[in-house]
Amino acid sequence: MSIRFIEKDKVFKLDSKDISYIIAIVDEEQFVGHVYFGKKILDENVNYLLRIDEPPYVPSKNNRDRVSFYDSFPMEYSTHGIGDFRESCLQVRDSKGHTACKLQYISHEIFKGKKELKGLPATFGDENECTTLEITCLDKDLNLEVVLVYTPFENLDVITRSVRVKNCAKDSITLTKVLSTCVDFDGINYDMISLHGSWARERHISRKKISYGKQAVSSNRGESSHQDNPIIALLDNNATDESGNVYGFNFVYSGNFFTQIEGCQFDTTRVVMGINPEDFAWVLEEGQEFITPEVVMVYSNEGIGKMTRTFHDLYRNNLIRGKYKDKKRPILINNWEATYFDFNTEKLISIAKEASSLGIEMLVMDDGWFGKRNADNSSLGDWVVNEEKIQGGLKNLVDEVNKLGMEFGIWFEPEMISANSDLFREHQDWCIHIEGREPALCREQYVLDLSRQEVVDYIYESVKKVLSSANITYVKWDMNRQLTDLGSMNITPERHGELFHRYMLAVYEMMNRLTTDFPDLLLENCSGGGARFDAGMLYYCPQIWCSDDTDAHERTFIQYGTSFFYPISAVGSHVSAVPNHQTGRITSLETRGTVAMAGSFGYELDLNQLDQNEKEKVAEQVKAYKEYQELIYGGKYYRLSNPKKDDLAAWEFISEDCSKILVQGVAFRAASNVLRHRIKLLGVDATAIYRFVKGRQKEEKLSGKALMTGGILIPAIKGDDVAFEFYLEKIEEC
Ligand code: GLA
Repeated sequence: MSIRFIEKDKVFKLDSKDISYIIAIVDEEQFVGHVYFGKKILDENVNYLLRIDEPPYVPSKNNRDRVSFYDSFPMEYSTHGIGDFRESCLQVRDSKGHTACKLQYISHEIFKGKKELKGLPATFGDENECTTLEITCLDKDLNLEVVLVYTPFENLDVITRSVRVKNCAKDSITLTKVLSTCVDFDGINYDMISLHGSWARERHISRKKISYGKQAVSSNRGESSHQDNPIIALLDNNATDESGNVYGFNFVYSGNFFTQIEGCQFDTTRVVMGINPEDFAWVLEEGQEFITPEVVMVYSNEGIGKMTRTFHDLYRNNLIRGKYKDKKRPILINNWEATYFDFNTEKLISIAKEASSLGIEMLVMDDGWFGKRNADNSSLGDWVVNEEKIQGGLKNLVDEVNKLGMEFGIWFEPEMISANSDLFREHQDWCIHIEGREPALCREQYVLDLSRQEVVDYIYESVKKVLSSANITYVKWDMNRQLTDLGSMNITPERHGELFHRYMLAVYEMMNRLTTDFPDLLLENCSGGGARFDAGMLYYCPQIWCSDDTDAHERTFIQYGTSFFYPISAVGSHVSAVPNHQTGRITSLETRGTVAMAGSFGYELDLNQLDQNEKEKVAEQVKAYKEYQELIYGGKYYRLSNPKKDDLAAWEFISEDCSKILVQGVAFRAASNVLRHRIKLLGVDATAIYRFVKGRQKEEKLSGKALMTGGILIPAIKGDDVAFEFYLEKIEEC
């Protein structure tokens, strides 16, 4: 059992593979204090770390300094309004308008396995994989019950947290802030990593030294967003990919989030994460409960790389679900950048024919097949096939594609409604809007008010009807605008603060219905590229379109940042045409192929425009990816360079048993008369001999030690953005 309650000290000790997390119940007043989070320790009596014998003491020993106590004690779940002036997790508005709340331990329960979070995505694990601790606390004055839920995973350095809040009083109460985690650390000498960006420039790494005061990352856009991602890492100032202490936090949620690192007055650091309190207010009537989404906390004492591999393992095994969890996914060709809105049955079939002859396994028909949609300014909501374009109907098209030996996938944007659509003409009040105020358009569309069940049901049924009409095995679920003008016809004024979260719950409900009704469907998430590249979506969608930027050079930065927290198998990545449509850059087909292979691979160009030589290269890439797919999806991932510093991007996949290694990368800039780059491999079996199968002369052999310490010289570069690739196999022990 990885959780123990040490009764005499009132200490909970949670152990994962190499980490411990310790909580203590303190004082006669039963405060729940945070003792320790880090490398595994065997001692049980470490609650001296709480310094409860030093001033300001605990209240029962020195009540005159109660506020000083609250403002310095490391509460497991800090509450607002009683004296902890650091960032709190829980704030309420009671029937008299008061906002304070105080939590004291009441009881606890420890059980094997992990409960589902009703209506929410969350990691899962069976009785052999994890154990759960639930600590029930109470605000006696409000009669508000708060259950803190912790699940350490047995074989991973992971602890998940979430919170349940229940109103046990007669009067209703409003939660105005209810975060999911709070951890206090000693010291303030840390760096903070977050992922920052914009449309077509998502998830670039931002690393900075933290300081006194608050450093926050958040989204108030109704989606996890292009701009910021619901992750944060707290790490030693000198931590690298391979060394140092790193704490990673990732929110399993796709809507508004808030995460913050705060350097506090006594040189401690507080990390919090949860639903963004901005525009949030949730009313609980008597007996009602609110469940927060989950936070995944990972600790690594071997740098950022180990944190990355822990997140990858957890998400591949204990978050992603369904048929494609452990199954190879089809290599697809998407017609978006090939045709945009200008396509018909004939055009699609001509692309599919060429694709199937090159080994590609699925055709995805993107935006523009429904209503009167010939540009991005109409028809969202009118999910009826446009038979002027799809002559012969959808079933005929799908059957023809199937006859070519390919699967068929389709694009939807179910959450949206075009101003110019039959649906909007019929139901103007179905979009999120404030009565009497003209809502803002974005891409000429509005967001459907999914807090209304009739809207959810109508949209879901129209999507379902299309999917049931032909042999469709893949859906690209897109979402192309942010939420503004928050208002709903369905919600009473005091509940308007619930709209953002109700919206997310409805999206999850729809995805759940879809994956239940069509269990074999491969769902790929997309949000104007990667505005919802988050762990919440991974629960429903094993792959997510990483970015609308398909330029191979820029993609190396986007995929570098994404790799810190999210598995490579989830990274939707396509070879597109040159000059690139987003940047105008010209890169070789080899480079585009190499970069796209570091993800769930596909093409997004008109293959009919390629010459014979290029088609042969595509066929070779497809063949190579099929060979490497298992290693890319299931292998351990190492970053071998920092593209921002090193003038090259390099990464490595290595099988669990270290017998197969794939190294890929791109050298960015040609320069005359310079030494060739050298890259050192990581995680290799030092005691083995490896043979180069690809990238160097065949049969060339090197020891694991040489690969890691001496490294490999990459070929001399002629030109910018030149890709390289090595494939090695272990042949013997040294
Ligand atoms: C978004 C997606 C693209 C494409 C278009 C279609 O921008 O990210 O891949 O599907 O919508 O309108």
